[in-house]
Amino acid sequence: MVRETRLAATDLIYPLFVSERITSRTPVESMPGVAQLTVEDAADEAALAWGEGIRSVLLFGIPSEKDELASQAYAEKGIVQQAVRAIKRAVPEMIVITDVCLCEYMSHGHCGIARIEAGCVEVLNDESLELLARTAVSHAAAGADIVAPSDMMDGRVAAIRRALDVGGFQNTAILSYAAKFASAFYGPFRDAADSAPQAGDRRSYQMDPANALEALREVALDLEESADMVMVKPGLPYLDILWRVKERFEMPTAVYHVSGEYAMLKAAVANGWLDERAATMETMLSFKRAGADMIVTYAARDVARWLSGHSGK
Ligand code: PBG
Repeated sequence: MVRETRLAATDLIYPLFVSERITSRTPVESMPGVAQLTVEDAADEAALAWGEGIRSVLLFGIPSEKDELASQAYAEKGIVQQAVRAIKRAVPEMIVITDVCLCEYMSHGHCGIARIEAGCVEVLNDESLELLARTAVSHAAAGADIVAPSDMMDGRVAAIRRALDVGGFQNTAILSYAAKFASAFYGPFRDAADSAPQAGDRRSYQMDPANALEALREVALDLEESADMVMVKPGLPYLDILWRVKERFEMPTAVYHVSGEYAMLKAAVANGWLDERAATMETMLSFKRAGADMIVTYAARDVARWLSGHSGK
């Protein structure tokens, strides 16, 4: 009766990795329970998740071809575009969110256009905006309800909003990865999405883990540029940021329980050191207590099953 925080399956956003390079479901070694999926598998997975009460998925694509302009990111028949259509066909009411970034599609693995000389990387912010906007529009054209830019280029929310409006997608919402830190906890994701930078790192565009006020400025800018929802990422090491963002802006706020956080939990569970269900549910509750409205987590299906009283796997 006196419980202050409640968790529901409708709070969850379930990330899916869809790959053009595989012919059947391929487990991601560093993320037990997570697999790269074909387009058909992704539609099946979305349908199963829907049946368990999950109402939203977040799509990442792994293309068969990468180049220096990320052309497959905005190709009409790109892997994410195909997956959006397949999921919408299988589960029309599922809220489909697409991650808008170029790193999975760039031969060098950076989130924008990059100039690389003698191992030195310069990511070209302004030049990248047009490609990001084009990617977002192509996702919307395929049927995405929400686009989620995760590249961290400055000005991308405004560029994407403008392009969506011009393209006739006024109703497509933007969930901005507004406070995204240059984190060591993305390691397993880069295996899953094959998006590790070939040279350099992401510290010129993602945030310094030491900075909280800068996170607030990043969120303020994205909201000015007309983001509809904002995200804090990673989750557990940044609960203070999540709390401050929610308190300050009172906007729909998402948190990303990232691959490294998930992998740590799974590894401890595999060793018999943590109780999976109790530790996972406590983590989810901590996100809600800190102000999250939405939680992106690879554990979404387990959490949904536990919430509905099934013992899960
Ligand atoms: C793309 C992107 C990343 C994640 C989400 N979108 C990787 C990165 O920035 O390197 C990480 C998600 C996770 O670790 O679960 N830029």
